[in-house]
Amino acid sequence: MKIWIALLLATFAVGASAQCTCESFKWATCDGTPCQCGVMVGTGEMQNLNCSNLVPKCFLMKAEMYRARKGLSTRTGGKPDKTAFVDNDGIYDPDCETTGAFRAKQCNNTKECWCVNSAGVRRTDKGDESLRCEKLDQAKFEPSVDGQKLEMEDILVYYVDEEGPTFTMKRLTGGVIAVIVVVILAVAAGLLVLYLARRRERGYSKAEPREMEAM
Ligand SMILES: *[C@@H]1O[C@H](CO)[C@@H](O)[C@H](O)[C@H]1NC(C)=O
Ligand SMILES: *[C@@H]1O[C@H](CO)[C@@H](O)[C@H](O)[C@H]1NC(C)=O
Repeated sequence: MKIWIALLLATFAVGASAQCTCESFKWATCDGTPCQCGVMVGTGEMQNLNCSNLVPKCFLMKAEMYRARKGLSTRTGGKPDKTAFVDNDGIYDPDCETTGAFRAKQCNNTKECWCVNSAGVRRTDKGDESLRCEKLDQAKFEPSVDGQKLEMEDILVYYVDEEGPTFTMKRLTGGVIAVIVVVILAVAAGLLVLYLARRRERGYSKAEPREMEAM
């Protein structure tokens, strides 16, 4: 009888440890009972994860930055391609809320900070540490038709935030000046042509009577 119980316990233990993996994130490590998964996001800093859900982007970015610093493998697929909207700033070491949401202000461990939207994409000019960012509100998207949850394939995700981007024209000044100069030159050239045309017209109309007299 004792042997049977021991065997039963052993099978349960094997079953439990076999199930203790993270389906949604290959860099995560799991152990313990109950099974707890986590990923390294800094030296000696383990971020706990709930692998029943998708891992929040902020944790993914933090883990990737850590791996890049450590010279470990990073993403091979999923890099921006021509069908994706590219975030030109590239990735940074983000500050995450405990929920996995991005903090509104990001500094990438430097003194230069900027505000992000809920996808962690910069939405303001860069500033110093005193920069103030509006708090991020993230709405949950769960579409339904006649009370039935909608299943979708080929999803294109747009993040739409309450706070719109607030880029200033600072970086564009050169281009704007060039456009203004071109417009002014075009207008000046147009006026000159008009003036010359008028003068010629007037010239003809003055010349006409004289010709008549001569005849
Ligand atoms: C993980 O997420 C699932 C689904 O949202 C939830 O039911 C479960 O309680 C969560 N587990 C933990 C440990 O928070
Ligand atoms: C954040 O800092 C890292 C180096 O620490 C750098 O490689 C990366 O380009 C920076 N990202 C941004 C968006 O500034």
